Amino acid sequence: MKIFFTKRRVNYLTTAALLVLPLSNALGQKASTDAKMNIFVSGLMKKMTVDEKIGQLNLITSGMAITGAVTNNGVEANLKKGAIGGIFGLYGTANVKSAQDVAVKNSRLHIPLIFGLDVIHGHRTIFPIPLGMSTTWDMGIIEQSAHIAAKEATAEGLNWVFSPMVDIARDARWGRISEGSGEDPWYGGQVAAAMVKGYQGSSLTNADAVMACVKHFALYGGAEAGREYNTVDMSRIRMYQDYMPPYKAAVDAGAGSFMSSFNVVDGVPATVNKWLLTDLLRKQWGFDGFVVSDYTALNEVTNHGLGDLQTVSALALKAGLDMDMVGEGFLSTLKTSLKQGKVTIAEIDLACRRVLEAKYKLGLFANPYKSIDATREANEVLTPEHRKAARIAAEHSFVLLKNDNQILPLKKSGSRIAVVGPLADNKRDMLGTWVIAGEWQKSISVLEGIKNVAGNSGLITYAKGANITEDTAFMSRLNFFGQQMVSIDKRPANELLEEAVDNAKRSDVIVAVVGESQSMSGESSSRADISIPESQQNMLKALAKLGKPLVIVLFNGRPLTLTWENENAAAILDVWAPGTEAGNAVAEVLFGNYIPSGKLTTTFPRSVGQIPIYYNHLNTGRPYSGGPAKFKSNYLDISNDPLYPFGYGLSYTKFNYGDIKLSKTNLKGNEALTATVAVTNAGKYAGEEVVQLYISDPVASVSRAVKELKGFQKINLQVGETKNVTFNITPEQLKFYNSQLKYDWEPGEFIVQIGTNSADVKAAKVQWVK
Ligand code: NOJ
Repeated sequence: MKIFFTKRRVNYLTTAALLVLPLSNALGQKASTDAKMNIFVSGLMKKMTVDEKIGQLNLITSGMAITGAVTNNGVEANLKKGAIGGIFGLYGTANVKSAQDVAVKNSRLHIPLIFGLDVIHGHRTIFPIPLGMSTTWDMGIIEQSAHIAAKEATAEGLNWVFSPMVDIARDARWGRISEGSGEDPWYGGQVAAAMVKGYQGSSLTNADAVMACVKHFALYGGAEAGREYNTVDMSRIRMYQDYMPPYKAAVDAGAGSFMSSFNVVDGVPATVNKWLLTDLLRKQWGFDGFVVSDYTALNEVTNHGLGDLQTVSALALKAGLDMDMVGEGFLSTLKTSLKQGKVTIAEIDLACRRVLEAKYKLGLFANPYKSIDATREANEVLTPEHRKAARIAAEHSFVLLKNDNQILPLKKSGSRIAVVGPLADNKRDMLGTWVIAGEWQKSISVLEGIKNVAGNSGLITYAKGANITEDTAFMSRLNFFGQQMVSIDKRPANELLEEAVDNAKRSDVIVAVVGESQSMSGESSSRADISIPESQQNMLKALAKLGKPLVIVLFNGRPLTLTWENENAAAILDVWAPGTEAGNAVAEVLFGNYIPSGKLTTTFPRSVGQIPIYYNHLNTGRPYSGGPAKFKSNYLDISNDPLYPFGYGLSYTKFNYGDIKLSKTNLKGNEALTATVAVTNAGKYAGEEVVQLYISDPVASVSRAVKELKGFQKINLQVGETKNVTFNITPEQLKFYNSQLKYDWEPGEFIVQIGTNSADVKAAKVQWVK
């Protein structure tokens, strides 16, 4: 720490100290902070050479955490030259300090580095994968998970996280559907805002705040055929209506940075797309932070066919990209482009200013070692409180897909339980995708959790039953970068199976823990077949023949096709990838200590052939009417209906919905409407229900979605209790983008729907005129 109290650092501290002067209101305070920041950054930039300015635009990876195919060389020399603005993939106070030392002690202007990492669903304490977090429908839990991640990340020297990932996804083949919040644009915006708030806290200068980086801007989830890094092409109206809202919500929540996506947007790669990065993001939405490219995304613009590295780097700078991740396109070409008149110094200055402003907002000029605190590192990560929060989040994220004859919850004693499946006695796959600092060895397996909750009475047996897969080519792809991601039992498949069947024969109930392993979803993990792998299906089929109740605990980073499982299992509990406390959370729910309340945020197809499938689709001119019919929009061989619709999820208890009571049925202008339903807990357990509000707009100037989610409330009901749930509806919720991309509502009829999922609702009509 002593190093800062050199003459130059004292000056910085003095500037920062002025920031804490009391000011009359928040707006005035922001204006004053901005003015001080401008003076400070302008003063610093006056001293900077062109090379140093370009250096600020260079983000390199340390190689400590490998998240891409290329890494950087010559890091120390570049740090001394001021040729690096930030490092990602480096964490731990000692590591971060040694890099920061070089920048602030040995570079000419002592400009601190920003330190980023893929902290996606927790840092050391791992929460459920983002898709699982979204099925909690609990913004408090989501915000808290981001705050805990920020606390742990800052305790290890970080100040920037590459999260939230807010890409809307309607295609379960795409492995990164696991990293987002599903298919609904409005709901995705709610989650995006909660995450940004959780990360950034009340002020970025707080010791436990990190800057969020919203990604992947934009439309990355629209990859054709669900194939990773593939082309995206869609109409502007679809972009605005269905894909852009979560990014916009993150801007409104104050996100400090954005990441450009790998794909094209309207034919132009996002990383060099001026309409996207400047006109939409900054001018229309008012974003005032900085934009970083995705990993070598700038270099990849050459593959997209827009020219060599110098050409695309100049395009990117002009488009509004401020920082280049890993590829060193800016570093190696911008000076030449400046000399050749292909970029201007004003364009370089603007990008440099935005990066320096981010460091200023984070308080790094005041104290470059702000997040480097060995005491916090020792005491504030993976604490019992954080683990408890992760367990509670996991319990709330589980979605009960089926529960025939109330087979769940299981009895804690007196019943013989055969626990089987490759994910049962397994710690590694509990964490899910994107767990750079998460240690799988510290996670709780399902078998451990079951014994923790039900006791180790001898009535619980275990057999693996099957490997994740027996397909060796597939397996080698899961074990990427030479890592042993999947542990294989080398015994022949039939021997594994027989052991499980023998155990199951001597049981009262079978708990089969099956599905996708960690590396089957996430980046670069698209699947054409999204069923449970064959080896595991064989095991399930053999077990089902025994005629005992079969409970499936399903691990998955995406919706899977589960038609056989839905027909043959007694119960299916979808637990996604629950994180560090996985096994404890699973057991708490299996034994009824927590009654499941999660609801799907993605539609589950019956077959891959139905994809893309989503609840808020357009009607078409020849809509499906509940069964196959000639000259209708349907399939010859399969129903249009999903296996499980958006918003679906059962409970151990039962909720009954009364009819909708509207405050009015004829409204005018900015009047407000209230819609109320009585929800009754008619079952045997106290439980939580996510009451969902949808609205349809059957006649408009453009074709509108058959229904759209406009609100939800998560309520808790005791046995026999009834609660009136009221939604306030204003014209704001009726707005949509018309063909001129004007966001407004149009008068006419609206159908208000309230229910337990998108397909099971009560409905009432209103007329609303302007
Ligand atoms: C590529 C991924 O698309 C992005 O989400 C991630 O943040 C970067 N790699 C850095 O690891």
